[in-house]
Amino acid sequence: MSETILTVKKATIEYQSPSNIALVKYWGKKGVQIPMNPSISFTLSNCATTTSVEFEHSTEEEEVAFEFLFEGEPKPSFHPKLAKFFSLVTQDFPELKQYRLTINSSNSFPHSSGIASSASAMSALALCLGDFEKKLKEDNYPYNIQERVSHWARLGSGSACRSVFPGLALWGKTPEVEGSSDEFAIEVDDVAPVFKDYCDIVLLVDKGKKKISSTVGHQLMDGHPYANARINHANENLGRLMKILQKGDVDDFIEVVENEALTLHAMMLASNPGFFLIHDGTLKIIEKIRYFREQEGVKLCFTLDAGANVHLLYPKEDHDTVTAFVIENLLEYCENEAYICDSVGRGPKRLNEIYE
Ligand code: PMV
Repeated sequence: MSETILTVKKATIEYQSPSNIALVKYWGKKGVQIPMNPSISFTLSNCATTTSVEFEHSTEEEEVAFEFLFEGEPKPSFHPKLAKFFSLVTQDFPELKQYRLTINSSNSFPHSSGIASSASAMSALALCLGDFEKKLKEDNYPYNIQERVSHWARLGSGSACRSVFPGLALWGKTPEVEGSSDEFAIEVDDVAPVFKDYCDIVLLVDKGKKKISSTVGHQLMDGHPYANARINHANENLGRLMKILQKGDVDDFIEVVENEALTLHAMMLASNPGFFLIHDGTLKIIEKIRYFREQEGVKLCFTLDAGANVHLLYPKEDHDTVTAFVIENLLEYCENEAYICDSVGRGPKRLNEIYE
């Protein structure tokens, strides 16, 4: 069958895509962004990137010609990462090289909040490209668009592939879940109601740039003395968590999620060279969360990304109690007392699509 491909003179596509917080952590990769272990995350709601891409038909170039603006300002420092991303995407979607792209991006969360924006940013961009390809191949588009977009988002930043889905998303091949893949994430919807609207307060302990990027952190898993043990452990935690999510067992959820967060940072400490991203404030917050849970019986727990900030996770029914606890006891450890209230979200939203 010969493929019919449309030519569009000009198009603008805009998406808002959320960040996500991993419960079982992706740490370490092989090949082209293939994870060493499967991971699962909550897609967030309020922490999001909005990206619009203007596509203008032009002569075909060797590589995609693009301009990138962040909050209206050109950001040449992002070019190398984006150029690499486009060189990978065009292996699947070569027609993109016939277009000049103007990419405009902004985040809902303040810059330098220490919140990684690569998951929301790369997924938002991949979503715009996905819709554009679908339009060009309108009549014979053979792909599952969510898989394809998640796969492209992964090429930009591993964790971004999970942001394409609402609720919970799993990335990485595991015998526990049929249809799971190392290439793209899938939605996990067989979960108890309590986890469908779980809350996350992000405590901004350090709003600065991380000393060690996650790219370097992943690399330090190559030849890490505990790598195999970690991979087995992550697989076990994932298997356990899948059952916990179905059953709605919040106590077991807390055990696995906190163990994952601390194991991630233990792997950093045991790398060569070893490094640590947690601060005094991070440890103080963890102690206080555990003490409050023991004393009050409120089922809150913490998780950490590759940074000093703490994500405080809890069932929606405890929102008022947890917020009061945070304001009274934890803000003193946050830079300028900053925190963000978020919760499990419904996934990306298309905001605009115009073809000329
Ligand atoms: O997507 P990356 O390369 O920024 O890696 C993210 C790694 C963690 O945030 C620490 C864990 C995860 O699964 O999101």
